[in-house]
Amino acid sequence: MSAKLEAIGLGKRYGETVALEPTDLTVQAGEFLTLLGPSGSGKTTLLQMIAGLVAPTSGRIEIAGQDVTHVDPGKRGIGMVFQSYALFPHMSVWDNVAYGLRMRSRSRDEVRTAVDAALAMVRMGEFGKRFPKELSGGQQQRIALARCFAYRPSVILLDEPLGALDKKLREHMQAEIRRLHKELGATFVYVTHDQDEALTLSDRVCLMNDARIEQIGTPSDLYDRPATRFAASFIGHSNLLEGSLADGAVAGSEPILLAAGARLPLPRAANLAPSSRHVLLLRPEALEFVEPKQGFIDGRIDDVVFFGSDTHVQLSLPDGSGLTARCSRTLSPRIGDLVGLTWDPYRTTLLHA
Ligand SMILES: Nc1ncnc2c1ncn2[C@@H]1O[C@H](COP(=O)(O)OP(=O)(O)O)[C@@H](O)[C@H]1O
Ligand SMILES: [Mg+2]
Repeated sequence: MSAKLEAIGLGKRYGETVALEPTDLTVQAGEFLTLLGPSGSGKTTLLQMIAGLVAPTSGRIEIAGQDVTHVDPGKRGIGMVFQSYALFPHMSVWDNVAYGLRMRSRSRDEVRTAVDAALAMVRMGEFGKRFPKELSGGQQQRIALARCFAYRPSVILLDEPLGALDKKLREHMQAEIRRLHKELGATFVYVTHDQDEALTLSDRVCLMNDARIEQIGTPSDLYDRPATRFAASFIGHSNLLEGSLADGAVAGSEPILLAAGARLPLPRAANLAPSSRHVLLLRPEALEFVEPKQGFIDGRIDDVVFFGSDTHVQLSLPDGSGLTARCSRTLSPRIGDLVGLTWDPYRTTLLHA
């Protein structure tokens, strides 16, 4: 069961502080949408307004086409999971999961069936009699998920639910959350400041910055086609080379950017403004090493960092600026070497400075 979710002109101010500019956002029924952004960008505020825990200053919220702006949190058909699991310490696991159902006055049989199903779903069926303090952090977070899933909300809001777990467990739980999303079929809105988590989990990512939406799209939209400098630098590792267009570059067939002390080829883009500054985004994995003078630009290798599956190479460019390239381990780059760099201009992105 899932429902479409809509925010229309939804905004929040605290006195002079704008926590969220008036914002439009549509989440499709059954979609997994992630709010990604730095701390303080308004993610939690947006989520809590959807939940009904924070009253908006402007705009409205619709769930399944119904205006719920003034509906109580408990009557919105929404489930919520936070970073702090907030399990009741004096209740068994089973009673924690049953709590929301009992609050909703479900029959004993219904409660039993739903709790057993929810515990099985998070693979904690054996743990019903334990108390929260007898569980690890990861197990407690599974119980928090089960408690939310038990009453089958059509929209599930998750605010940094894996934030307190270590890296290995977090990655495991990410896979679990993906599986649970598929099994439940509910609409998920997930908050994180971790870009890897956002890219791996989501159907779409809503990137937030400074109390507004910076860009919204599929993970590959954001990674391959960032719309702004902020989006380019927040998502993935980015080399951003700032420069200006070479004379005649706009009219000519091969536009050239003068940057980092070299003449760099650009994809033939429609919106080249001759007078303004531009930024070329080069992803580390798009760069290839060739002999010096055989590429678009030469770089001196400053450092080589081993990452297991591949190697990150730090280079300095002719104007002294730095650049990161990623190369396979077979290349064995050496510190101090001069190398040429080449790339497919169509795998780069040109942004306004
Ligand atoms: N209750 C509040 N009172 C005053 N300012 C708040 C309150 N809640 C959030 N803010 C401010 O609103 C902005 C957005 O906060 P928040 O939504 O929590 O960001 P995020 O979840 O992205 O870290 C921040 O500047 C924060 O300080
Ligand atoms: Mg937050």
